[in-house]
Amino acid sequence: MLKEVIATRFITPLREGGSLPGLVEADDLAAYVLKFTGAGQGRKTLVAEVVCGELARRLGLRVPRLVTVELDSVLGLGEPDQQVQDLLRSSGGTNLGMDFLSGALGFDPLAFPVDPAEAGRIVWFDALVNNVDRSWRNPNLLMHRGDLWLIDHGATMIWHHNWPSAEASAARPYDASDHALARFRPDIAAAAAELAPLITAGLLDEVTAEIPDAWLTDEPGFDTPDALRRAYAAPLLTRAAVIHERIKGTE
Ligand SMILES: Nc1ncnc2c1ncn2[C@@H]1O[C@H](COP(=O)(O)OP(=O)(O)OP(=O)(O)O)[C@@H](O)[C@H]1O
Ligand SMILES: [Mg+2]
Repeated sequence: MLKEVIATRFITPLREGGSLPGLVEADDLAAYVLKFTGAGQGRKTLVAEVVCGELARRLGLRVPRLVTVELDSVLGLGEPDQQVQDLLRSSGGTNLGMDFLSGALGFDPLAFPVDPAEAGRIVWFDALVNNVDRSWRNPNLLMHRGDLWLIDHGATMIWHHNWPSAEASAARPYDASDHALARFRPDIAAAAAELAPLITAGLLDEVTAEIPDAWLTDEPGFDTPDALRRAYAAPLLTRAAVIHERIKGTE
């Protein structure tokens, strides 16, 4: 289970994010980046953040710690910005939070070199989860104390938007030509040899168990949250074995 905290104060919106994430303080006095359950992108974005973030972490990639943030919608009452107030008001209940990496800089492919081994691991992982949101235009990578951290996994696993065609959709190749790390000669073969064997049914059970039930209810075609968890795990297990042969655009 992800740690659960309670939001006590809304600090500021993070304007650079398309979904308008916010910075909040919680009852443990720490600051978290909050992704709202009431944001236009919907709760599937939050499920994707949890599945990909918790999977990446277990593969040894750096991802800020994820928590669930309980939000009382009255927190929005004093908020002067109408857009933020609407988000706070529509996001009562369970939201996603992540550790705020204070002082982190956005990754700039022209300013920070990345070695082929690390680039390979990240590109392979992004191919596995079909991340379309790590381009050089919008890398969603942060540099924090000299290390590269992965954020923003909301635009992944496109197959979860249409479960009946998930199997066919998950078999598709991954185009890495726009990837922020494509220029660093990512060593995909080494990454696949190292990481693919770690993706087991047991690991995926552990990862999907972290998704809060509240985001898994009322999905057409699934009777229980656990049935939906299994649907998240299946394409990843299949893809892990083959995806390295289907990554295009890194040579
Ligand atoms: N854990 C974090 N620590 C520090 N800053 C962060 C963190 N998470 C996000 N940010 C900052 O907030 C911005 C928006 O976050 P994120 O990319 O997750 O949001 P988004 O709304 O999904 O964005 P996008 O516009 O890429 O769709 C990031 O570009 C980064 O500057
Ligand atoms: Mg982003």
